Amino acid sequence: MSKDTVKTTTSIGYFTEENSIETVNARMGKDVSPRLAEVMACLVKHLHSFAREINLTQEEWEFGVDFLTRTGQICTQERQEFILLSDTLGLSMLVDAINNRRPEGATENTVFGPFHVEGAPVRQMGDQICLDGKGESCLFVGRVLDLDGNPVEGARIDVWSDNAEGYYDVQQPGIQPKWNNRGVFITGPDGRYSFVGIKPVSYPIPDDGPVGKMLAALGRHPYRPAHMHYMVRADGFQKLVTHTFVGGDHYLESDTVFGVKRTLVAPFERLEHGNTLWRSDFDFVLARPEKV
Ligand code: BEZ
Ligand code: FE
Repeated sequence: MSKDTVKTTTSIGYFTEENSIETVNARMGKDVSPRLAEVMACLVKHLHSFAREINLTQEEWEFGVDFLTRTGQICTQERQEFILLSDTLGLSMLVDAINNRRPEGATENTVFGPFHVEGAPVRQMGDQICLDGKGESCLFVGRVLDLDGNPVEGARIDVWSDNAEGYYDVQQPGIQPKWNNRGVFITGPDGRYSFVGIKPVSYPIPDDGPVGKMLAALGRHPYRPAHMHYMVRADGFQKLVTHTFVGGDHYLESDTVFGVKRTLVAPFERLEHGNTLWRSDFDFVLARPEKV
């Protein structure tokens, strides 16, 4: 930035408790991207209002800075504690809701989570995805449809779940087989899918870091209700990132990341015959992209 373009004064004057928002936002340069300027001005407004409203003490501010520092320090390629923080504060679900408003009848989105892995094996309809032999086997069946009820051919359904002990394969490399409880299925002209996995179990999100400490301090448990993850992609349709939840799960109404939606609670029916113990039917209804 050249000397000429550096702002040295504002019409507001020096910073005071009363004019803090206006003073900070008046420093914004002229050539800043309009969206960046809008986002930052709003962030400053809410941050300052927050500190003012609760009379933030110096110690509390220091604690907050330390908490965020620890949150950053525990992050690695495999662990994203900031997203976990966003998830447990309900921010991820809010952003997801804002960005995935769909017409009535379309399947709702929910949080993506950290355990998806791109490149899972493409399997044949009816195949088994559980490779560790643990858990109660479950047949997952349904259709991919458009909003008029027509089958969607060529939909790519990516599925993933935890194992019977509540861990994803990527949390236990060397213990679980690679691609355990994962697979990709591509629909034919009838839009149908089917695969055999396990009836998922509820599990705690990673709670050995700052987010876990925060949850404990707030008297909150770290559990997610049992669910199967789905990502459904098809040409000409919005991408669907969702779960089906096991009806009756103890944590349905207290999911630590607020991911449950009434329409995503699926039936799990106990079967009387054969080796498969459960069956869960669920149709996915895809919406067309929004017109802009
Ligand atoms: C999950 O369902 O895999 C998940 C979602 C959010 C945070 C942690 C885990
Ligand atoms: Fe999950």
